[in-house]
Amino acid sequence: MEDLPELEKLIDSTLIAERVRELGKKISSDYSDKNPVIIGVLNGGFIFLADLVRHITTNVRIDFIRLSSYKSGITSEQITLVNDIVSNLADEHVIIVEDIVDTGESLKYLMDHFSKKNPCSIKTCALIDKKERRSCSVEPDYTGFRIESGFVVGYGMDYDGKGRNLVDIYIMKK
Ligand code: IMP
Ligand code: MG
Repeated sequence: MEDLPELEKLIDSTLIAERVRELGKKISSDYSDKNPVIIGVLNGGFIFLADLVRHITTNVRIDFIRLSSYKSGITSEQITLVNDIVSNLADEHVIIVEDIVDTGESLKYLMDHFSKKNPCSIKTCALIDKKERRSCSVEPDYTGFRIESGFVVGYGMDYDGKGRNLVDIYIMKK
């Protein structure tokens, strides 16, 4: 894998597919009488969202939002909105789909941002919940896998823009 640091396979594609199918089934049953708006967070969430929605049996609308975050100071992360959704969320049921929740600041930002658009409800779905660096009290309502720490790549997630197209999920070796 040129240009990427040494990687070790963490989650095989068959296991990802199985778990994504389970999440889709759960969301389908929780939203059986609703037509939620599924909002993918670019770029990392694009593959997860594409697979997930194909296991959701209720009618859904799909939209995307793009954030960028950069470090300001030693610890704090500054999040800015790059591209907003185009959908009207008033009286809608929203499900935010993220690749991975790390500090939780992005998810917190998104919850605040979408709350202002007056939806009926907002829930969050993350493929990976990474606990170690959580700095705010957010937890995804639907979680694919939990890891304690480390940097993961593949299935939409990148290292310096690379590795998103890897089929399996890898963890960077130290
Ligand atoms: P948070 O705001 O710290 O929760 O970070 C969320 C975003 O950082 C995620 O949506 C990812 O885009 C990125 N991120 C955090 N950890 C990883 C990782 O291990 N691999 C790839 N991207 C990550
Ligand atoms: Mg992301």
